[in-house]
Amino acid sequence: MPGVVYLNGEFLPRERATLSVDDRGFIFGDGIYEVTRVVNGRLFEADRHMRRLQYGLRGIGIDPRMTSDQIIDIHYRLIRDNELTSGEATVYLQITRGAAPRTHYFPPASTRPTVFLSASPFTPNREQREQGANGVTYPDIRWSRCDLKTVNLLGAVLAKQHAVANGALEAVYIRDGVITEGSHTNVFGVIDGELRTYPKCNFILSGITRDVVLELAVEEGVNVRETPIYQQELGRLDELFVTGTTSDVTPIVQLDGRPIGSGKPGRITRLLMSALERRLYADAPARDRELASAR
Ligand code: PDD
Repeated sequence: MPGVVYLNGEFLPRERATLSVDDRGFIFGDGIYEVTRVVNGRLFEADRHMRRLQYGLRGIGIDPRMTSDQIIDIHYRLIRDNELTSGEATVYLQITRGAAPRTHYFPPASTRPTVFLSASPFTPNREQREQGANGVTYPDIRWSRCDLKTVNLLGAVLAKQHAVANGALEAVYIRDGVITEGSHTNVFGVIDGELRTYPKCNFILSGITRDVVLELAVEEGVNVRETPIYQQELGRLDELFVTGTTSDVTPIVQLDGRPIGSGKPGRITRLLMSALERRLYADAPARDRELASAR
């Protein structure tokens, strides 16, 4: 993967970016990450991503020693240097507690966090979104601070691998008899005309796309409630979809081999897919336009 990346204050070719083997991100998964969508050179919902990043860093006690504005600047510089100012892209960011001799407790406060960002072209899978995809349920084996976007992704890796091995796009986690979220997405379902998704708490990541879709649902007059979908209710689902930075709204038309509703993307799903597309591509929110043009 060619391109210019950012590592600890430097912009440099990806192949020259190297990390210490003592980096706590490598040794412990001790860090926080973000993935932000870029449409025509503009970051989508940059402020929300920065707020979630700061929440995560505070949550695990890492001081990044830079402001959100400085971090946004690095995003825009990478978009420019990698010639991603038209079309679509994603920016990956990771901040770890830095390199230090291995101790489970935190290293000395003087340890400099590792800050890494890279930008890559991105092509949404439109066919999959038109036709819908398959999902499989999987036990939510993760810890109980899923609200922190940490680089400890083994639970996600095993769940997604299970999905792929079973010909599915996404694994839908079940914890204590309810759907929490997907391996790298949030999950929404429609039962009796009501749109439902697991409430924001420590058991799910507060997805930026989830927040936007909830806003759009209200704008579109959809009856929506942040309440769990129980495993016993899976047979009653009329619609199911997942949301995420690289998934947008993707309909799930079959779960564990059984069709959801008519087996085709449902009305509310399609309504929200279109509404999100409009937000992504047409009506750049004023704040995103302002951030992009300031850089
Ligand atoms: N994943 N839930 C989990 C567990 C996630 O990892 C993600 C995002 C989401 C959706 O959040 P957002 O809408 O902010 O992308 C929900 C990213 C994209 C990833 O791991 O690549």
